[in-house]
Amino acid sequence: MTQSEIDFFDRLAPEWDASEVRSTPERVRSILDQLDIRPGMSILDLGTGTGVLIPYLSEKVGERGNITAIDLSSGMLDLAKKKFGHLKNVTFLLLDFEEEIIPGKYDIALLYSVYPHLHAPEQTLKWLFRMNLKDGGKVVIAFPSDEKFINQIHHDRASESDHLLPAQELAKEISKWGMKAEVLADDEETYIICVSMSDHS
Ligand SMILES: C[S@@+](CC[C@H](N)C(=O)[O-])C[C@H]1O[C@@H](n2cnc3c(N)ncnc32)[C@H](O)[C@@H]1O
Repeated sequence: MTQSEIDFFDRLAPEWDASEVRSTPERVRSILDQLDIRPGMSILDLGTGTGVLIPYLSEKVGERGNITAIDLSSGMLDLAKKKFGHLKNVTFLLLDFEEEIIPGKYDIALLYSVYPHLHAPEQTLKWLFRMNLKDGGKVVIAFPSDEKFINQIHHDRASESDHLLPAQELAKEISKWGMKAEVLADDEETYIICVSMSDHS
């Protein structure tokens, strides 16, 4: 991420929770319920922002599990810590997950409302599988809306380089990179792609 992108998210942070109306508890629960998150699992929440997923993930993995919540915007991460710093199974890390090493191995790495911001998606996904995912682990790309909604927001903010493909097209692109990509949901309220290592790789 560039400094101007970090500044951009730092500026958005104080208003984020009030403006992010799509991540209702029902929608977040419905998305997470499709991911087979079990007690005892280790989860990476990449680009956690103000931690919208954290309480739900924390409850799902329980005291034997753990969440590592990562963000490069200290404005965003400080708010997440303020809200959820008391949860014993959550660790917060300020780092750029496309550039820096993340400690540990995980069952699931979540990219929730984050994928369009990646600079090098193919390399980042491959790096995550190599460095941070356990055997059989998966990366989940998810949004609480369809791609049209996301692209409209980025258009309004004049950040059209952050274009998101329709789920089926993105899954096809990821498959060409040698990973297995399955669309789990693709409607107005939910966009979920589950990425795993292809049997051939
Ligand atoms: C659109 S916000 C979504 C935040 C949160 N997941 C949510 O849905 O409320 C994207 C977040 O990803 C973070 N982010 C994007 N690229 C990142 C990177 N390479 N390393 C760490 N954080 C990143 C941004 O700082 C920002 O907080």
